[in-house]
Amino acid sequence: MRGHRKRVLVTGGAGFLGSHLCDALVGKGYDVLCVDNFYTGTRDNISQLFNSPRLICHEPRWTLEEALTRTIAYLKAQAF
Ligand SMILES: NC(=O)c1ccc[n+]([C@@H]2O[C@H](COP(=O)([O-])OP(=O)(O)OC[C@H]3O[C@@H](n4cnc5c(N)ncnc54)[C@H](O)[C@@H]3O)[C@@H](O)[C@H]2O)c1
Repeated sequence: MRGHRKRVLVTGGAGFLGSHLCDALVGKGYDVLCVDNFYTGTRDNISQLFNSPRLICHEPRWTLEEALTRTIAYLKAQAF
């Protein structure tokens, strides 16, 4: 996909490990899609990324399967 930024989906991205992974990937210039239902993770863990145009965080109440289904639909709608 020449000319396109690489896009990475991080499940559990608001958790301890995931938030550090999001940080590192955003720092490297990736589009980061963070899927998290905030079951144990927190917005605080990724608050430093909220101003990043590259971070999209999907929120509560969805199962991981629902979140991934919605994320894939979102990517398709963007002609990803
Ligand atoms: N400061 C520290 O050293 C520190 C702090 C916290 C944790 N830890 C350690 O880190 C390890 C745990 O870290 P982790 O990152 O694996 O766990 P975590 O709980 O921090 O992260 C898991 C993430 O997955 C999310 N999640 C769970 N089910 C989901 C679902 N169905 N859909 C979407 N998201 C979902 C949670 O909300 C959470 O954000 C443990 O060993 C713990 O002791 C260390």
